[in-house]
Amino acid sequence: MKNRLVCECFNIWTDDIKRELENGAETFEDLEKSIRLGVMCSACIADSKRVIEELKKEIGRG
Ligand code: FES
Repeated sequence: MKNRLVCECFNIWTDDIKRELENGAETFEDLEKSIRLGVMCSACIADSKRVIEELKKEIGRG
């Protein structure tokens, strides 16, 4: 997946999400806790969940 911005509130990019997944995060909720994904305006939640599923497949965890 080409690196792109997912969460504007916290400047979280797809590469940041990928790194978290590689370090053991499994779910959107894990990322909420670790890097605060989606906790401000919540506009990125649906996109974040799609990105997480896609990246999990990409790194062989889907
Ligand atoms: S864009 Fe992610 S919390 Fe606002």
